[in-house]
Amino acid sequence: MAFETITVETRGHVGVITLDRPEALNALNAALIVELATAVRRFDDDSGVGSIVIIGSEKAFAAGADIKEMAERTYPQASLDDFMGGDWLAVSRARKPVIAAVSGYALGGGCELAMMCDIILATESARFGLPEITLGVIPGVGGTQRLVRAVGKAKAMEMILSGRFMTAEEAERAGLVSRIIPDAELLDEAVKVGEKIADMSLPAVILAKASVERAFETTLEEGLNYERAVFYSLFATDDQKEGMAAFVEKRQARFRDR
Ligand code: CAA
Repeated sequence: MAFETITVETRGHVGVITLDRPEALNALNAALIVELATAVRRFDDDSGVGSIVIIGSEKAFAAGADIKEMAERTYPQASLDDFMGGDWLAVSRARKPVIAAVSGYALGGGCELAMMCDIILATESARFGLPEITLGVIPGVGGTQRLVRAVGKAKAMEMILSGRFMTAEEAERAGLVSRIIPDAELLDEAVKVGEKIADMSLPAVILAKASVERAFETTLEEGLNYERAVFYSLFATDDQKEGMAAFVEKRQARFRDR
């Protein structure tokens, strides 16, 4: 399938998806969401890929759902089509780690897309916001849930109720962004992080991600039990034997994802 709203490449063992609707600041229209979901699922299923990077342009990661496309939607259409379900959720359903590399605007659905990713790297120019309230609606793909978990109630409420944007620096301080990267290095750095992850044992990576996600879903006791069970299960892998043998033998581990 040839893509029209994104470009896709593989760098080493990292799948890179570039959102590519510059004329609309990468606004997430239906076509882009279908293509993004297709690309994410393909990389997730590709045994040669260990992690995925999603990046936009220098000016915009994505300025939200496409307002022009959804302006005339009716309630029955939105509800019956499950407008923000299906392909919109593909990134949050990926089993492999997904890194958002954010420069410029990450607003509305764009901010929500970044928050579906596992790690957010950002440049100084990044601006995060959920301005849906200014359009007479509310965030529809996770904003009210993920932002509050990322930055706490006070900042999340202010942003969601007033539409205020957060700078990259504030987002890093608040814990939304993992690190701020110089503009020119954003993609290379995101790929470097992705490559580092891809070098690890994939079963361990997938279970580490699943275990961290549990922290948001369950009680501490249940989460600890899950983590312990997963930890024990990894002793059934060849990669555990290899990883520990390599440490003892003072050499680099060579994981084979089994
Ligand atoms: N949908 C559709 N088109 C968009 C868009 C969006 N979300 N964001 C920007 N564009 C388009 C603009 O209409 C403009 O197109 P034209 O040249 O054809 O008029 C082009 O992109 C460039 O945008 P601006 O001229 O507005 O650029 P700017 O630098 O002056 O402003 C901006 C940038 C502050 C990001 C401004 O474009 C903006 O406020 N965009 C909308 C942000 C927003 O409200 N996002 C939330 C959408 S709702 C949502 O996402 C729901 C959900 O929860 C899933």
